[in-house]
Amino acid sequence: MIKKIREQFRDRFGKEPLIIAAPGRVNLLGEHTDYNQGFVLPGAIDKRIYLAIARNDSRSVNAWSNDFNESFSFPIDMAQPDKGWKNYLIGVTHYLQQQAGPFVSGVDLLIDGDIPVGGGMSSSAALCSGYGFALNELFSLGRSRLELARIGQLTEHHFVGAMVGIMDQFASLYGKAGNLIRLDCRSMDYEYIPFDFPDHRIILVNTMVKHELAGSEYNVRRQQCEAGVLKLKEYYPNAVSLRDISIGQLERHIMDIPDAIYQRCKYVIEENARVLQGCVLLERGDLPGFGALMYRTHEGLRHEYEVSCAALDFLVEQARNMAGVKGARMMGGGFGGCTINLVSQEAAEQFKRDICSSYEEAFQVTPEIYQMQIEDGVKAIN
Ligand code: GLA
Repeated sequence: MIKKIREQFRDRFGKEPLIIAAPGRVNLLGEHTDYNQGFVLPGAIDKRIYLAIARNDSRSVNAWSNDFNESFSFPIDMAQPDKGWKNYLIGVTHYLQQQAGPFVSGVDLLIDGDIPVGGGMSSSAALCSGYGFALNELFSLGRSRLELARIGQLTEHHFVGAMVGIMDQFASLYGKAGNLIRLDCRSMDYEYIPFDFPDHRIILVNTMVKHELAGSEYNVRRQQCEAGVLKLKEYYPNAVSLRDISIGQLERHIMDIPDAIYQRCKYVIEENARVLQGCVLLERGDLPGFGALMYRTHEGLRHEYEVSCAALDFLVEQARNMAGVKGARMMGGGFGGCTINLVSQEAAEQFKRDICSSYEEAFQVTPEIYQMQIEDGVKAIN
């Protein structure tokens, strides 16, 4: 892949590029908690966006995407969204200059990768993180990885319209091979949690149902959580987010809060606790205990947060009855994308065959299946 895009870049732009690899992410526990100032437990994966980039002598970004088989040029001072993948580039270019000053020139850019788009592995966060990192290197802008993550998030908010949290960008930029990241999305303190289970595999099963964050229920969930906090503030004036409310405090006001809002809040409060508990279980090597938490997360996402769908529920129910599966749940924003499954190594091949055939039979669609490694975050390739 790297050799191919280097050559392609040379052919297209006639010069040597800098190459950046930016991974997607998995998330073991802590779903829909990041924008509630809660805890998450993601890791960067061995599926990546690759960017080949070099300065040019114009004031434009000239980009080519292999995935979309499409080129796109825009002036570096463009501040209006266009559409699709282009908005990630426009947004990051805009916010980086806003924070670090105008670039001395434009850039030529070629993008490739193997993260399935719409699969819930955060190809868009990888693109923003990788592109921001590339510009930061190329122009020596001195931005920290955290600042780059925030720029990716701002781009999602204002150029794409998805009110995402910080988990995906953070995981792509801070990933470390063999480790998950326990991130506190309030303080931004983080700790690497070794995920060292050579006899187990992380396997994603893609429903092939495309999830669309913008214009979907995602932003509604965020508003519902904020509405919950606003209501609870009447009783607990110091509460800033759901992080500050205990389950007992919430339950005391079950009659005062609309049911849907109550359910959303309950899920988030319990999910935060699951992340903390899950890390303790991982440290003890208790995978069955950890897997049980994954199932509970799925139940919460299905019935309380209501972001699952029939295909995801089906895959989790199937996994529950298969040999060697410690835990399974939907992963990411929801309404499609993948389930994440923790499976013992000796059962992995059988699991893949069986889950594939039962899904095909039920939905007449062949699911894509990916076995994941936890890898390093965004980096330059020599
Ligand atoms: C998407 C968002 C993240 C996070 C997850 C749900 O991936 O980009 O910020 O909210 O959904 O946990």
